[in-house]
Amino acid sequence: MSIPAFGLGTFRLQGQVVIDSVSTGLELGYRVIDTAQIYENEADVGQAIADSGIPRDELFITSKIWIANFAEGQLIPSLKESLRKLQTDYLDLTLIHWPSPEDQVPVAEFMSQLLEAKRQGLTRQIGISNFTVDLMKQAIEAVGAEHIATNQVELHPYLQNRTVAEFAKTHGIQITSYMTLAYGEVLKDPVIQQIAERHQATPAQVTLAWAMQLGYAVIPSSTKRANLASNLKALDLTLSDADMAQIAGLERGHRLTSPKGIAPNWD
Ligand SMILES: NC(=O)c1ccc[n+]([C@@H]2O[C@H](COP(=O)([O-])OP(=O)(O)OC[C@H]3O[C@@H](n4cnc5c(N)ncnc54)[C@H](OP(=O)(O)O)[C@@H]3O)[C@@H](O)[C@H]2O)c1
Repeated sequence: MSIPAFGLGTFRLQGQVVIDSVSTGLELGYRVIDTAQIYENEADVGQAIADSGIPRDELFITSKIWIANFAEGQLIPSLKESLRKLQTDYLDLTLIHWPSPEDQVPVAEFMSQLLEAKRQGLTRQIGISNFTVDLMKQAIEAVGAEHIATNQVELHPYLQNRTVAEFAKTHGIQITSYMTLAYGEVLKDPVIQQIAERHQATPAQVTLAWAMQLGYAVIPSSTKRANLASNLKALDLTLSDADMAQIAGLERGHRLTSPKGIAPNWD
């Protein structure tokens, strides 16, 4: 089992907006959907999936357990509630959305419940999100690296997260890049725009191809059919070593997501 290279993000999108985004995405060929309990859109995502008529086994659905649901005996019931909303009896991937703030719930306690959820068939794979190297070590100690499919982290040309990515790689943990487009910021970058021109591609395609060429899975979101369609074509774009080196040079430690009281001490 592994994490598909290309999926559809749904953060910030709710109600008809998320229904339209997911429905259009599925129509265009997306088969991987990333949601989370805290996005409060699982029921809408579930509705869009049900209305599409696409067989469940052709889809890859990810959700994430919110930090309020980590205490002993709470994680699995919360996951069952996500399944009900998503109108499915299993997830393909369930992530711990953020580590427990100030270690209120020890890593071993929530990871063992997540592993139990996998054993019960509620999720095919399990993983983590926003975990630092230290937290990854704790998660590995708790359940074994072989059970941790991915660490989903903010990763884009302005925050390349190399320490986390290299540690994950040495333990066979796939990196999923979230906010690969830096929520649109990197699309205005002159270097990325020049590379795009050379390839007759869009800046978004270049950025997504860059992340996939580094071996990361991507889950860009969009509310627009044209962007959803063109982003998917990043799968057909191959960047040169020189292009990759130029984008590597854009690193500037520019983190967009670090919620106060929740974010760990970043590497
Ligand atoms: N695990 C976590 O803690 C975490 C945190 C953040 C995000 N995520 C996941 O990662 C997903 C992706 O992150 P994100 O949605 O925050 O940011 P993103 O994918 O980096 O950027 C999305 C933004 O880029 C724009 N965009 C997309 N394609 C475009 C294109 N071809 N040309 C121009 N603009 C384009 C979209 O606008 P339009 O709608 O106008 O196209 C939207 O404003 C989320 O949806 C969520 O599923 C996870």
